[in-house]
Amino acid sequence: MAKVITLGQFIIQKQADFPYAKGELSRLLRDIGIASKIVNREINKAGLADIIGDVGSINVQGETQKILDVYANEQFISALSAGGECALVVSEENEEVIILNNDVSKNAKYVVAIDPLDGSSNIDVNVAVGTTFSIFRRISKEGEADIKDILQKGTEQVAAGYIVYGSSTMLVYTTGCGVNGFTLDPSIGEFCLSHPNIKIPETGTIYSMNEGNYVHFPEGVKKYIKYCQVEDAATSRPYTSRYIGSMVADLHRNLIKGGVYIYPSTASAPNGKLRLVYECNPLAFIIEQAGGRASNGFERILDIEVTEIHQRESIFIGSTEMVLKAEEFMAEYS
Ligand code: AHG
Ligand code: MN
Ligand code: MN
Ligand code: MN
Repeated sequence: MAKVITLGQFIIQKQADFPYAKGELSRLLRDIGIASKIVNREINKAGLADIIGDVGSINVQGETQKILDVYANEQFISALSAGGECALVVSEENEEVIILNNDVSKNAKYVVAIDPLDGSSNIDVNVAVGTTFSIFRRISKEGEADIKDILQKGTEQVAAGYIVYGSSTMLVYTTGCGVNGFTLDPSIGEFCLSHPNIKIPETGTIYSMNEGNYVHFPEGVKKYIKYCQVEDAATSRPYTSRYIGSMVADLHRNLIKGGVYIYPSTASAPNGKLRLVYECNPLAFIIEQAGGRASNGFERILDIEVTEIHQRESIFIGSTEMVLKAEEFMAEYS
């Protein structure tokens, strides 16, 4: 029986990667892991607990807020606030930045952006959902955290990760030294290393996008979809179309099997639907660390200037060769 390495043990072992760190980042990752286990417990009994359905409010995104959106948001924010390693939080579910200026947090070294529940529309129908997080070192003086701490380019992230609440619950993260995946063992309540040093296949045969928006897609995306559907044995086409409606779940499948996820501009989302700060940037950091590629069809996601906390961006993310091919069509038909 292979030795079980828990997330906590792994983080401590990897501590050697960060001689300058004195354990704060490790504790911050631990705090996120703890909150995700609490959220996982509620998700696993969503049909029984009174957390199915809508809160009855609209969030800053203009979306109907799910009870589990709010519950997950509360769990992550309280874990970050109590842990004392985070000075400021940006969340999909909060219009403004949350400055954690209690005594333990106000001098913390890090700030966090989070999508507490990704794919909320899937909760009521028992389909996989996720959480995404992005961690930066603060740039403000101690005690004075402010929005500029989080309006940093994706290249400045010190860590990023996601939790996918699927047939099993996994936490996948990077600190810039590769990507590692941990599966929750509910019998011991620990995330255990199950996917060390994940690398995404150079290419793949799965494309993920909401083709219901086809008529409003940019011409380059329409041409790429037709390319995916052409019969060509030499390049294993036609590809397979898979779209879950939770970006984290689609991205995780593509990370393991190879594939591309595209959410381009549409009529209702002229700048794309996904949010740069807490969805595109963390997932782009992970995909690049796993050997993949992430752009907005033209520009590298991690290089995009960040001006607003809920800024939206088109995203083409996954196996390098597939993203490059889609970018070729975007260049040719734009
Ligand atoms: P969220 O549930 O956090 O608002 O994000 C959902 C996102 C992404 O996870 C998913 O791929 C996409 O929205 C689905 O959008 P459509 O329903 O427009 O396809
Ligand atoms: Mn949402
Ligand atoms: Mn989301
Ligand atoms: Mn969300």
